[in-house]
Amino acid sequence: MYKNIIKEKLEIKKIKKAGKIASNVLKMISEYIVPNITTGELDRICHDYIIHEEKAFPACLGYNGFPKSTCISINDVVCHGIPNDKQKLKNGDIVNIDVTIMKNSYHADTSKMFLVGKPTILGKRLCYVAKKSLDLAIKIIKPNISINEIGKVIQNYVEKKDFSIVQEYCGHGIGQKFHEDPQILHYYNENNKFLLKENMTFTIEPMINAGSHEIKLMRDGWTVKTKDRSLSAQYEHTILVTKKGSEILTL
Ligand code: MF3
Ligand code: CO
Ligand code: CO
Repeated sequence: MYKNIIKEKLEIKKIKKAGKIASNVLKMISEYIVPNITTGELDRICHDYIIHEEKAFPACLGYNGFPKSTCISINDVVCHGIPNDKQKLKNGDIVNIDVTIMKNSYHADTSKMFLVGKPTILGKRLCYVAKKSLDLAIKIIKPNISINEIGKVIQNYVEKKDFSIVQEYCGHGIGQKFHEDPQILHYYNENNKFLLKENMTFTIEPMINAGSHEIKLMRDGWTVKTKDRSLSAQYEHTILVTKKGSEILTL
C-alpha cells in the first residue's frame, strides 16, 4: 500500500544529519527571540545560518511556492505563517518557528514554541500542553503498535486539558521527500490500523488550540489562523522507529 516508508541504514544516517542541523537552527535562533525583532529578520538569520554555516538547504523555500525559508506563526496563527519585515514580536506573544532542512537529498522537520518576554498564563499553559502531547505520543512509539495509537494518546491528553486539536494537518513520513506516506493523525481514527515498523521515519506535529479546533486559511493562501482567533501552539519532531522504541532525530 505505502512506498518507501521503511528506510535503509544510509538513508537513516542522512535523515539524522538533517535532523541535527534542523535542531541546531532552533537552538541558534532562540537568543534572537526578543520584542520588536521582525519575523522577516528571524527568517533571514535562519536562512543565512542554514546555507552558510550548515551548507544545507531550507526546504520550505519554494515548496509549493512558499516564499520564505521558515514558517513563523504567532499567537492565533496555527501554522504556515509567512515571515515578513512588517510583523514584530511583542511581549507576551507565543511564536512557533518551523524549520525543514534538506541535506544530501534527505529531509528533517522540526518546530517549537518560543515565549516572547513575559508570557501570559494561557500562552504558557497552551505551549506546555502542546509540548507534552508530543512527548506522550513519542513515548509510546515502537514497532507493531497501530498508527492510530499516536492520535489516541494526543487526543486523550489534550481534551482532558480542555484544549482542541486541529484536524486538517497531520504528521508525515519524511525522507527523500519533505512529505511522504504515511499520514500521522493527531486525533483518534479507528479506521487507521496500519502498524509501525522498525526504520520508519516520520514527524509528529500536533497543533493545539486554546478555543475551537476550527481553522481558517487567510487570503495569502498560506497563513492558517484559528477561526475564533484563539491562541494556537505546535511542537514537531522527526522520529525514527527503532527495534525497541524510538529515537528523536531533531533533538
Ligand atoms: N514544515 C511544515 C510541516 O511540518 C510544512 C511547511 S510547508 C511550507 O510539515 F511550504 F509552508 F513551508
Ligand atoms: Co512536518
Ligand atoms: Co514542520
